[in-house]
Amino acid sequence: MRTFLTLDRSERDESYPEALVEAFLREQTITGDVVLDPFAGFGTTLVVAERMQRRPIGIEFLADRAAHIAGRISSDATLIHGDSRRIDELDLPPVDFVITSPPYMCRNDPQDPLQGYTVDGAGYDAYLDGLTNIFRRLRSVLKPDRRAVVNVSNINRYDGLTTLAWDVARAIAQVMTFEGEVVIGWNDDDHLFNYDHEYCLIFRNA
Ligand SMILES: C[S@@+](CC[C@H](N)C(=O)[O-])C[C@H]1O[C@@H](n2cnc3c(N)ncnc32)[C@H](O)[C@@H]1O
Repeated sequence: MRTFLTLDRSERDESYPEALVEAFLREQTITGDVVLDPFAGFGTTLVVAERMQRRPIGIEFLADRAAHIAGRISSDATLIHGDSRRIDELDLPPVDFVITSPPYMCRNDPQDPLQGYTVDGAGYDAYLDGLTNIFRRLRSVLKPDRRAVVNVSNINRYDGLTTLAWDVARAIAQVMTFEGEVVIGWNDDDHLFNYDHEYCLIFRNA
């Protein structure tokens, strides 16, 4: 796969583009594969996976987002309104491929992203530890040697720079093998985090 993809982003929101999911599913999966998104958000992964005859599973913490996703997918897709921090307790079938974008955090943000920003958290390092723990548990759900792709950006905001992509890579690399990154370049001038590019980090369940 190329290590640089240029994509159009149609809307300025928290979704990643369908073209990003499509590119990875085409490259990394075949018809009938089980594709998991542990942070399902608005359901992009599930919608694209279904369209490509994969079997999607999504987990989403927030009830309103889970309801939104339910309206976008068929009854054959699996959507769990639940908590990926206990992903190994959700009775999931063996998964062939994971693609996701985690909830983002800037270094000084008070809320806990891993609880949908609904309560105060214990800080940036605790958030990164939380991600490590989720991917540690995810290893028992993902088939051996299969991959997890994590879409993430660094964030350059009014209150400073958070090297989120580097830090997430290091957090997950504690429990899965980091194989490299694909740089995603945006074809527009409306840059969410003051960058015209972000990353898809690729991990293997070695
Ligand atoms: C960046 S969004 C994902 C966007 C998605 N890629 C899309 O295109 O719609 C991250 C999502 O993770 C959810 N989330 C946060 N903590 C979670 C948890 N512990 N378990 C499951 N979902 C969680 C958030 O509510 C949010 O919707």
